[in-house]
Amino acid sequence: MPHACCYRCVFDKSYPGCNLECAKAVEDVIMKEGSDTVGGAIFEPITAGGGIIPPVGEYYREVAAICKRHGVTLIMDEVVCGIGRTGTMFGYQHYGLAPDIVTMAKGVASAYMPISCTVTTGEVFASLQDPGDKLSYFRDISTFAGCAAAAAAALENVRIIEEEKLLENVTKMGEYLLEGLKENLDHVNVGDVRGKGLLMGVEFVEDKMSKTPLPEDRIVDICAETAARGVLVGRTNRSFPNQNNIINLAPAYIVTREDCDIILKTLREAIKTVLG
Ligand SMILES: Cc1ncc(COP(=O)(O)O)c(C=O)c1O
Repeated sequence: MPHACCYRCVFDKSYPGCNLECAKAVEDVIMKEGSDTVGGAIFEPITAGGGIIPPVGEYYREVAAICKRHGVTLIMDEVVCGIGRTGTMFGYQHYGLAPDIVTMAKGVASAYMPISCTVTTGEVFASLQDPGDKLSYFRDISTFAGCAAAAAAALENVRIIEEEKLLENVTKMGEYLLEGLKENLDHVNVGDVRGKGLLMGVEFVEDKMSKTPLPEDRIVDICAETAARGVLVGRTNRSFPNQNNIINLAPAYIVTREDCDIILKTLREAIKTVLG
């Protein structure tokens, strides 16, 4: 399926006059494959590793309608966005969706313990069981399933997020940092700044007209410069061939305004050092 990144629209159109071609293309894929052969369609609400891509508001409404029309299970991969990263408990909540299956991992115990979950509706779960067989159960297997310490860490993590109202901070600081990036990184090589909550990306280009991705080694250098100044940032990791030109920011949910200012100042200095 085509991606939903407006900055590099596959259909060479601009929102809102684009007829949501990227979402409509999902139907073409299902039809091409034969809808009776498509068990499910899996989406990351906001693509993380592929370059921090928040689709436009109506994107998933269109996708969900297509999936429903063809009896295709809609699966949201919330491994990155899940449990608060974008300011809501799940990324799909920004889009008013009711997915059939949701996966989550990194945020479940804030990575203090390795734990992941797959959640589904009663209807999907029932379809995995054989009602005529009393011993029927959902067959999965995992070496460390049932690790009580990881589950305890997850419960405590979610309790802290709720009690300390951290999602409010994620939203507030996310807006502050995104605005700050847009204002402070007005640089010839910064092509796009985008994100949601405390998940954001800065896309680097040779120049704003051609949008030619800046070579990966320049991005590596910028990351090294920020690290040398005490700020760790991520970057796209070869998700798209020849397009590893995006720096990812995902600060902790407890980040303060002062921390955001340090991030902004450091990134600006690192860019200046590497790109002039
Ligand atoms: C969006 C997304 N889905 C799934 C995975 C894989 O998840 P896990 O490592 O929990 O299997 C990752 C990265 O680890 C990811 O970024």
